[in-house]
Amino acid sequence: MISRNAATDSPVDRERDILAREEWLRHREHAALRARETWAQPAADVEQLMNRMREANQRLILAAVQAQSLSDEAHAETTQARADLDHLMGLLREANERLASAASRAETLATLARHRQEEYRQLSGRLLTLQDEERRRLALDLHDSTGQRLAALTMNLDIVVEAEGLSAASRRALAESRSLAALCSREVRTLAYLLHPPLLDEAGLRSAVRWYAEGFSKRSGIDVAMDLGDVGRLPGSIERALFRVVQESLTNIHRHAETTTASIRLTAVAKRILLEIRDQGHGLPDRGTRAGGTPRAGTLGVGIQGMRERIRQLDGSFAVAFTGRGTMVRVSVPREGNTV
Ligand SMILES: Nc1ncnc2c1ncn2[C@@H]1O[C@H](COP(=O)(O)OP(=O)(O)OP(=O)(O)O)[C@@H](O)[C@H]1O
Ligand SMILES: [Mg+2]
Repeated sequence: MISRNAATDSPVDRERDILAREEWLRHREHAALRARETWAQPAADVEQLMNRMREANQRLILAAVQAQSLSDEAHAETTQARADLDHLMGLLREANERLASAASRAETLATLARHRQEEYRQLSGRLLTLQDEERRRLALDLHDSTGQRLAALTMNLDIVVEAEGLSAASRRALAESRSLAALCSREVRTLAYLLHPPLLDEAGLRSAVRWYAEGFSKRSGIDVAMDLGDVGRLPGSIERALFRVVQESLTNIHRHAETTTASIRLTAVAKRILLEIRDQGHGLPDRGTRAGGTPRAGTLGVGIQGMRERIRQLDGSFAVAFTGRGTMVRVSVPREGNTV
């Protein structure tokens, strides 16, 4: 800057001096302006940057808040899911426990049913044995008491009818009484034989079956063809059971089959005895026959079930087949049987 002495300077000098001072001031101002301009740009940039940073910061905060809220939600959902899972696991455990207890109950019931079935089998076996014994006793009683008395009565009537001095009416009445007594005697004998054929004990199954079938043919008019192999003597339980099967099967043929022909086949194969009774009747045409010829449960009477049970007691097999061409009962038992 120009420094002068105001007292000595001329007006020109002073003017020059003023001009110089003004120039210097302008120059300073200009410099200040330039400096301001130079600094103003970075400040604006800084401001802008700050603004961006603020915005970014706000977005960050927002994102953090959102993240927090999402995390809270996720946490809540996880907690709920865990509670649901616990609940489900509880239900599953309960269901498992119930299942286990039901299974154990079922097992107990099954065991009980097996015991009951075994008891039932023993009982029915015992009943069949008792029935046979009872029939044998009854047959013996009928034959030995009633049958003998009727025979004596017939003989007495034979004597009386020859007596002298009888009116014609009395003689006729006596003769009638004698025929009635003879008829009763025959019926009692037949009944006794049917209840327990003496031939069964004395001569064995083959003879007893032949005797029974011949009597049956005579009474029913049904022709029974027989093919009876020599099976020899068998344990009493087998002979009795097979004889009862023949009896019941022929009775069924007479009652249900509506036929005039039937056949019986008895054979010994290896260590088994086979028995077949066939007829050429209608074989259950209208009552509860299923495809394949097996009768529906409920259509069986006591007869078939009794036969089945008798054979089962001997560890044998029993089958009955109803077809359009007739009925066949087929039995197979081990020769030695069990000695019930
Ligand atoms: N030979 C047969 N031909 C046709 N139907 C038969 C024959 N045998 C049995 N049935 C049928 O099978 C059913 C069952 O026979 P089952 O012997 O068990 O009983 P039921 O003879 O009727 O009576 P019961 O108990 O007096 O023997 C008979 O009612 C009959 O309908
Ligand atoms: Mg029957």
